[in-house]
Amino acid sequence: MTHHRSTWRNRWTFMLATAGSAIGLGNIWKLPYMIGVNGGSAFVLVFIACILIVGIPLMMTEILLGRRAQKNPFNGIEALAIEAKASPYWKLLGGMGMLTGLLILSFYSVIGGWVLYFITEAIKGSFVDIKAAESTANFNDLLASPLTLLFWHTVFMCLTMGVVARGVNSGLEKANNILIPALFFILLILLGYSMSVGDMQAAYHFMFSLDFSKITPVAVLSALGHAFFSLSLGMGSVMVYGSYLQRHVSIARTTIYIALADTMLGLLVGLAIYALVFANNLAPNAGPGLIFQTLPIAFGNMPWGSLIATLFFMLVAFAAWTSAISLVEPTVAWIVENTKISRKVSAVALGLAVWLLGITVVLSFNDWQHVKIVFGLNIFETLDKLTSTILLPLGGLLMALFAGYFMKRDHVQDELNLDNRGFKLWRITNNYISPIAIIAVFLYLFGLVK
Ligand code: PHE
Repeated sequence: MTHHRSTWRNRWTFMLATAGSAIGLGNIWKLPYMIGVNGGSAFVLVFIACILIVGIPLMMTEILLGRRAQKNPFNGIEALAIEAKASPYWKLLGGMGMLTGLLILSFYSVIGGWVLYFITEAIKGSFVDIKAAESTANFNDLLASPLTLLFWHTVFMCLTMGVVARGVNSGLEKANNILIPALFFILLILLGYSMSVGDMQAAYHFMFSLDFSKITPVAVLSALGHAFFSLSLGMGSVMVYGSYLQRHVSIARTTIYIALADTMLGLLVGLAIYALVFANNLAPNAGPGLIFQTLPIAFGNMPWGSLIATLFFMLVAFAAWTSAISLVEPTVAWIVENTKISRKVSAVALGLAVWLLGITVVLSFNDWQHVKIVFGLNIFETLDKLTSTILLPLGGLLMALFAGYFMKRDHVQDELNLDNRGFKLWRITNNYISPIAIIAVFLYLFGLVK
């Protein structure tokens, strides 16, 4: 079937869209609380190492797969496998990625809903002069109310599917251009505030003191998983965005910019938050509620606080929105490119399925809190751990092996278009270092090595 495929208008729009996919709740909500849960600096160090050693080369791999295939991940990998004379069943890798994206979206949308709720709270002025204990209580009240969570989860899903139904070119590209830089700007204001009233020294020490003795296997496992999550790797989002990328754009350079922006943003939010955590004697290991309990305190006590809070949560919502879209785009592209079903209908149908699964996530914060799926994890925790620590790294591993050992070297080099040294560096990391790192982590996870 021939099909008209859209392309990005230029390198910038691709970069911003991919950055829009990468920058999201992973940076602002998840990274800060994971740092706290996993012992601070040890986690940060391993996380940065994972971004550099595994994340960057793998992002290049994923873009190159997409651009060469010019198709959705499922048919794309199939086509590349046929071109490489490998088994067409490699397409299952694309299928796994599509499923992973939908699983992630089911909880991503619920958390996105928290952010929307916080926009309304900020507008109402609920944070004015708020104290730490009240802020924590407010957040716990939200979690205890399934109907409120459900309402905002529904709004978030509608927003996401609304854009997906329209396709890649309209609106989103333009919005990205303004909103991602705006997010950085507001973050700097927040950081400035945290520096003046928070305990920046303690935050810095907590996040960056080099204490190798604190590195635990669990921290390594979570850091690797989060490197994938944060850069949107291992499930085909970046691949499908790469498939809309024009041929002359340098993959390596674009990747490095995106990875840097993504990592910096997460670490800056972390600093701003931990300075407040320590100044207010809050617990750094509060878990998923961390930013929703700490940031209102900061906003509530600064001049123009309600306005800045409103802007901040709006930008976070926007960042979450652009990521959420990229979680469904692989599946929508697959449906549209293989069936007569329209983009609109497929977006609505997928949205409904993910929304239903999201309801179980909503309940896992209250009525079903004690329903454990595996290893004592509730539904939200199971979906989160399953996708971040298993499915994304597994997808990434298989993509690396496919590009490294099955595709023709010339074809790969053709896409990457690097000089000799650059290509060698990519090959060593893609073919040896990343696979070994991921496999080592898996062996540990399954208890095969202690
Ligand atoms: N990278 C996004 C974030 O950090 C989440 C995401 C993961 C998006 C995987 C797409 C694919 O919030």
